[in-house]
Amino acid sequence: MAARIVILISGRGSNMAALLAAHLPLVVAAVISNRPEAEGLALAAAQGVATEAVDHRRYPTREAFDDALAAAIDRHQPQLVVLAGFMRIFTPAFVQRYRGRLINIHPSLLPAFQGLHTHRRALDAGVRIHGCTVHFVTEELDHGPIVAQAAVPVLPEDTEETLAARVLRSEHRIYPEVLRWWAEGRLKLQEDGRVLLERAAFPDAALQVPGSGA
Ligand code: GAR
Repeated sequence: MAARIVILISGRGSNMAALLAAHLPLVVAAVISNRPEAEGLALAAAQGVATEAVDHRRYPTREAFDDALAAAIDRHQPQLVVLAGFMRIFTPAFVQRYRGRLINIHPSLLPAFQGLHTHRRALDAGVRIHGCTVHFVTEELDHGPIVAQAAVPVLPEDTEETLAARVLRSEHRIYPEVLRWWAEGRLKLQEDGRVLLERAAFPDAALQVPGSGA
C-alpha cells in the first residue's frame, strides 16, 4: 500500500504544487495550513486533495496550537509530515511526536542562514553560492539531519527576487526527488541521526562559481 503524507503550508504553496505535479508513488492525504487564506490551499483543493486550516491565531498558546495541529494531522494517519513553506516554530513536544517523520525544505545551504530572509542575508554576506536544503526536523530551528542540498550561483546582478527565484527552482527539483526516494524506501533516518540514502543521486555535477550558468 502506498505511504501517506500530510503537507503543511503557510502561503503560496509552490513546493506543495511541485510535489503534487511529480505524481509520486505516495498518497497526499491532506494539505493543512495555519493560515486559512493561504493560496496553496485553493491550489490543492483544485487538484482534489483534502485541505484544512488550523488557524494559529485562534489558539492562546503555542502548545494549544501544536496540539490542534497534531490532532488534524493524525486524523489522516500519515507516515511522513512534509513542511513546505510552513512558517511556524514548533514546540519540542510536537517535534518529538513526529521524530524521524518530519521533513522540511529551507531556502539556504544549511547550516548557513538559518531563520528568515535567507536570500537577502546571502547577498549581504557576499556568498558566491547559495541554495536550499531538505532536512529532517529536530528541536533546534533549521537544524537536523540533512538529506539533500542544491546549490545555485549568486550572480553579480542578483537582487533578492532573482536569487529567490533561482533557489525556488532548485527547491522544486530536489524536494519531489527526496520524497520519491523516501516513498521507494531508499531514504532512512538511522537511530544515530545519520541519513542513509540508497541509489540516490542527482544527475547534475558539482557547481563552481564563477564559471557556471544560472
Ligand atoms: C520556500 O522558499 C521554502 O523553502 C521557504 O518558504 C518558501 C515557501 O514557498 N521555507 C522556509 O523559509 C521555512 N523556514 P512556497 O509556499 O511557494 O513553497
